[in-house]
Amino acid sequence: MSERPANLTPPTAELHVHIEGTLEPETIWELATRSSIELPYEDIDDLRSRYRFEDLQSFLDLYYQNMQVLVTAQDFADMTSAYLQRAAVAGVKHVELFFDPQAHMARGVELTTVVDGIFSALAESTERYGMSSSLIACFMRDRDPAEAMHVLQQLLEMEAPVIGIGLDSAERDYPPRLFEEIFALARSNGLRLVAHAGEEGPADYVRQALDVLRVERVDHGVQSLADPELVARLVREQIPLTVCPLSNVALRGVPTLAEHPLPAMLEAGLKISVHSDDPAYFGGYVDTNYTAIQGVFGLSREQLAQLARNAVDSSFISPSRTRELHGEIDRWLAE
Ligand code: HPA
Ligand code: ZN
Repeated sequence: MSERPANLTPPTAELHVHIEGTLEPETIWELATRSSIELPYEDIDDLRSRYRFEDLQSFLDLYYQNMQVLVTAQDFADMTSAYLQRAAVAGVKHVELFFDPQAHMARGVELTTVVDGIFSALAESTERYGMSSSLIACFMRDRDPAEAMHVLQQLLEMEAPVIGIGLDSAERDYPPRLFEEIFALARSNGLRLVAHAGEEGPADYVRQALDVLRVERVDHGVQSLADPELVARLVREQIPLTVCPLSNVALRGVPTLAEHPLPAMLEAGLKISVHSDDPAYFGGYVDTNYTAIQGVFGLSREQLAQLARNAVDSSFISPSRTRELHGEIDRWLAE
């Protein structure tokens, strides 16, 4: 965990964080012990040594394996509480938290266990930390879209406290258009729409996410840069892209942070914001992402504030909460 004072980085909105990706090795160990689950690691150091990846799939293999320690609603609540505590230190004032229902249901965990556990902790974020929060259910691209449809129907029937849906997991060879019906149903039920696209997949998947799924925000989107026409459209329409610099380096989307296209994306006028993705796995929470890009690119406090304003403006909060958060960013800038 970072020891930096939070005021080096701006107050911000975290819009791209997978709650299951906040499971630190120590927590995995504790939860496994609590539920007498045998993990395929010798000890915590052995587990920690596996946190190095070749690509998205090599990460996902470990990410899904480690989730087996999540069994009871209390497990989900404890994971979420631990995240909120760390996020508050990172300066997160609003979070739109992703979770992967199918990854748990496929292991025999009930959907209500997952949702109730996460939400019971999330419901305390305002009182405990002054942090507004909401929940987004992500569907897995590498599972049958019919299963995603069934899970969405269950979420709707149980009136789950989710504000929207997303799309994640392995990207290559799983084009967004496979999920058209699911997104259409979510939309007609008033849910907000986001999707991972252009993380490892081609720029055309970003286009499909916009035109077929009709998403309001694109997660990652960095591969859009290969397509100047798409970039021009993203700039013109000010489509939000949630960029995760440390994730892109960890999963080798870019060789080093210094080669990350973030400065070029800012220069192009894209509406980008900075997020942590799977902070326990990729080397840090949102504050660490900010300090890392500040260190490498020498961004000014005004540029960091602009990234934070973009995050706030890309979120699904009310106009009054947006004004409050802009005020917090202005105060940080004046410090
Ligand atoms: N990419 C795609 N799917 C994911 C990720 C990611 O970084 N993290 C959790 N699910
Ligand atoms: Zn992600």
